[in-house]
Amino acid sequence: MSTQPVHASVGIIGYGSMGSAIARAIARSHELEKRFSFQVYAKKQQQTADDGQVIFFSQSLQDLVSACDIIIVAVRPEQVAGVVRDVVQGLTDEKALPRKILISVAAGVTLDSLRSLTRNAFAAVRVMPNTLVEAGRGIFGLCSSPDLAEEHKSLILTLLKGIGTVVELEEQQMNAFTALAGCGPGFLFSIMDSLSEAGVSVGLSRESSLSIAKSLMAGCGILAETTGRHPVTLREQSTSPAGMTIAGLNYMDAQGIRGHLIEAVKVACRQGEAMDLESR
Ligand SMILES: NC(=O)c1ccc[n+]([C@@H]2O[C@H](COP(=O)([O-])OP(=O)(O)OC[C@H]3O[C@@H](n4cnc5c(N)ncnc54)[C@H](OP(=O)(O)O)[C@@H]3O)[C@@H](O)[C@H]2O)c1
Repeated sequence: MSTQPVHASVGIIGYGSMGSAIARAIARSHELEKRFSFQVYAKKQQQTADDGQVIFFSQSLQDLVSACDIIIVAVRPEQVAGVVRDVVQGLTDEKALPRKILISVAAGVTLDSLRSLTRNAFAAVRVMPNTLVEAGRGIFGLCSSPDLAEEHKSLILTLLKGIGTVVELEEQQMNAFTALAGCGPGFLFSIMDSLSEAGVSVGLSRESSLSIAKSLMAGCGILAETTGRHPVTLREQSTSPAGMTIAGLNYMDAQGIRGHLIEAVKVACRQGEAMDLESR
């Protein structure tokens, strides 16, 4: 156990797909363990996480609200208003406490709605996570009011950077972020599956082919990240004149694969905008 002081306590409300992925990622992070204590409030009371990880489940939402500095609301969008109202009611000794932070990860719930639901008793922050949080490699789009205190922001960044990367956004960029970072895993898994299928087509076993496809995707990400080289440079470095890769790349270009990928992100973004309009 670390001897460093705990800086803040984090409470997660909702233990569905996203709430449990965030909880398990925090529980796995030794770095965060030194700086944050955390607990979860789930509707159906649990004693341990499904995979046996040690997670503290609080007995009531009010217990969690009283104990935590940062409250992450990870319930479905239509449940947010009710839960945030309960959270505000759970703030029994409002004046005696420093202002707490409420983070909503709900799609489509705006900062304005959060501010009005919390009646400004909390510093409200909107975060859009993606499914890679399960691997401790989440990408979080974060938007906050310009008046968010520096110390609050720094606390939130420390927490989220412990389980992924953070991109600070203007709220109107949320759909663009979601179209790339939120939908991206779906797009890349589809490409991974296609490459795996391709390996089988040219004579590899299914098992080897899938294993190669997974290693390729992970390895390319790590190479780009660790070298800092642009993907164009890395592509050129793996392409020799009149070789096999350039033959495949020429085919991809002739088919407009890059254009199709760009269009997929644009279509997803437009879909997000249409969903926003429908929910108004
Ligand atoms: N899943 C993703 O990939 C993803 C990605 C980005 C953002 N998000 C956002 O994350 C939020 C959660 O999504 P999800 O996929 O995790 O949904 P989910 O699997 O349905 O989880 C939500 C959980 O919250 C519980 N809950 C509802 N009210 C509660 C309360 N008062 N106290 C405690 N728990 C309560 C629900 O219980 P009941 O089912 O019994 O109501 C459910 O277990 C959504 O707002 C979504 O927009 C999700």
